[in-house]
Amino acid sequence: MPTSDAYHRMYLQQTLALATKSNGLTGINPLVGALVVKEGRVVGQGFHRKIGEAHAEIVALAEAGQQARDADLYVNLEPCCTHGHTPPCVDAIVAAGIRRVFVVENDPNPAVNGKSVRALRNHKIDVRRLPVPETNVNLWYRKYITTGIPYVTLKIALTENMRISGFKGRYVTSEPSRRYVHALRSQAGAVLIGINTVLTDDPYLTDRLVGRRNPARIIIDPHLRIPSNAHVLIPGARRIVMTSSDGDRKRIDELNELGVESILMEGEDYATNDLLRRIGKLKFGSILIEGGGQTFKRFLAEETYDDLYAFVAPVSVDNGIELTLVEKFFDGEKPEKIGEDTLYYVHRYN
Ligand SMILES: NC(=O)c1ccc[n+]([C@@H]2O[C@H](COP(=O)([O-])OP(=O)(O)OC[C@H]3O[C@@H](n4cnc5c(N)ncnc54)[C@H](OP(=O)(O)O)[C@@H]3O)[C@@H](O)[C@H]2O)c1
Repeated sequence: MPTSDAYHRMYLQQTLALATKSNGLTGINPLVGALVVKEGRVVGQGFHRKIGEAHAEIVALAEAGQQARDADLYVNLEPCCTHGHTPPCVDAIVAAGIRRVFVVENDPNPAVNGKSVRALRNHKIDVRRLPVPETNVNLWYRKYITTGIPYVTLKIALTENMRISGFKGRYVTSEPSRRYVHALRSQAGAVLIGINTVLTDDPYLTDRLVGRRNPARIIIDPHLRIPSNAHVLIPGARRIVMTSSDGDRKRIDELNELGVESILMEGEDYATNDLLRRIGKLKFGSILIEGGGQTFKRFLAEETYDDLYAFVAPVSVDNGIELTLVEKFFDGEKPEKIGEDTLYYVHRYN
């Protein structure tokens, strides 16, 4: 039976592919895929589909049944040893009689980090950690679980001369770009916008074009200017207004009656780090920021984002809100053609 690292990495790559199937569906839980392999044959596989449901290892072990005895388990993240929504996976792995466990990385959660590896080894299970290149499926989880701050992605649609408004019609970008954005939405815990965007565009912020999942919607609205019939308040996902603690109590109650949650902030001007900390407390591991100008400018200036997607349409306008802050990113970034538009992707730590 082959035993080289390359052989094991091949299965670990498969666990990553399985893991990404649930992108956006696991809440603050990590994306995890698992395989049970016996004598070179996959006898069980699984991934964590949804927060509250079985972990990947449990699904894979159940599929393997008796064949899990003396088999190898491949999993992209160190199994859990804690009691959460489900019992610890470590116990199930030991009970199933697994012989060796291969993981891509330790769980960065301080409650787990390395403890499960030690627990498995105490049961004489051979555990090996084999890093696989480009393992960024849980980049967001690593940030959230170690800092309490969600992973922040900015999505900006721009004209060639760096304007985010002032164009004819509702959208500046083409349908393929908008489809891409809906896919990004479906993977985010929540989408966040400033109140002026609600008032000028009345967006839905749903995933209509891909149809995977609608994220929660968060609106920064210090003065509670949001109308009750705004599209973002239509049920179908959590709706949250971040507003001032000394604001209109009656209006807050009216919104709460519509099922809209309110997060009360000090004062009327919020540092983005404070916003993010509060959003993290609501158990969102990632957010997608969709505008508008003031909101983008704050996150860019305070450097509190992780990723930026700038969709640039082949259009120029004379008026509109300028966003020159993003210009610096375009040098050296390899753009991608999306329909008629050009997409610049920037990971801030590159
Ligand atoms: N091309 C794109 O990607 C895109 C995307 C979305 C929107 N847009 C466009 O952007 C325009 C709207 O943008 P905008 O710059 O006017 O406003 P905005 O960012 O949508 O909303 C700004 C307002 O939100 C509140 N706010 C935002 N951040 C805050 C913070 N850190 N602390 C306290 N309050 C905060 C404030 O409300 P108060 O004034 O009540 O204090 C502020 O005036 C529209 O024309 C829209 O079409 C473009």
